[in-house]
Amino acid sequence: MTTTLAEWLAAQPVDQKLARAVATMAAASAEIAAVLRIAPIEGETGLAGHTNVQGEAQKLLDVISNDIVLNHIGQNSDISILVSEELDEAVHFDNGGALLVATDPLDGSSNLDVNVTVGTIFSILDASKGLLQKGSAQLAAGYAAYGPSTSFVLTFGTSVAVFTLDQSDTFVLTKDKVAVSPASGEYAINTARERFWDAATKGYVDENVAGETGLAGKRYNMRWVGSMVADIHRILMRGGIFLYPLDSETLEKGGRLRLLYEGNPMALIVTAAGGKATTGRKNILDIQPTDIHQRVPVVLGSSEEVTRVEAWYKKA
Ligand code: AHG
Ligand code: MN
Ligand code: MN
Repeated sequence: MTTTLAEWLAAQPVDQKLARAVATMAAASAEIAAVLRIAPIEGETGLAGHTNVQGEAQKLLDVISNDIVLNHIGQNSDISILVSEELDEAVHFDNGGALLVATDPLDGSSNLDVNVTVGTIFSILDASKGLLQKGSAQLAAGYAAYGPSTSFVLTFGTSVAVFTLDQSDTFVLTKDKVAVSPASGEYAINTARERFWDAATKGYVDENVAGETGLAGKRYNMRWVGSMVADIHRILMRGGIFLYPLDSETLEKGGRLRLLYEGNPMALIVTAAGGKATTGRKNILDIQPTDIHQRVPVVLGSSEEVTRVEAWYKKA
């Protein structure tokens, strides 16, 4: 007996407008998955030739994915505002819709042309409360991970469910009530940035590297895919911690990852699965945004590991 996303959504005690907005993002994700599957054949790899508002070179697939999301959202009159990593300004639809969607249409751009997992991240908010809301106000959040299979991971804030895209382009429930294991021996950070790290990040990572001979007292492994979606999906499935902390190079920008469509949705998902999400000093979900493309330091995953990082920040 399988349960489709549509069946599962219909059974949830949530506003059906919200459920339909989730279904819209799922439909967009299925279409993006289909595009990614044959992108090298279609010649859709490489750069698009322009940079986005964040000064990052857009890949052709970034633009195509953004267009797919925009098209799907434009057909759902419950969604009146779209914030996208690839669009300088928020898009307002004149439909009186109650919901706002913030999205990273394609996450992991450095992995796009090398056939490594990338993803789509989204956050759904009450449109009447404006563009700049804390992550704790999210009504739903989720992501699609385009890997060996396409996963669609979803939370309404209390539990996390995982769906897998089948051969007829239907998402089927494959895991409900995901729990992030509190302990883990895996951490994810771009260690090439070590020279920029603050004392807390360095202290935490040094302890892990010391393994059973150090204060952590156990051996660790490092895993860094370079797609936040892929790294977070691994953490949801088998525990671990992901860090993109504030460092001396990202200090001026406030971090590397974006709050509205990377930090907040992932923080809601990981927290709903029993993990923790912090900047090191503050719960990500409690940050009052001041800009739609604002950046944020991100530390999230298994609670014991995140607590160790927080302890380092208290000490530092
Ligand atoms: P995006 O492709 O949407 O710009 O996001 C890329 C992000 C995130 O997916 C990943 O964790 C991080 O950038 C990778 O950073 P490094 O290039 O420092 O490894
Ligand atoms: Mn991203
Ligand atoms: Mn992106």
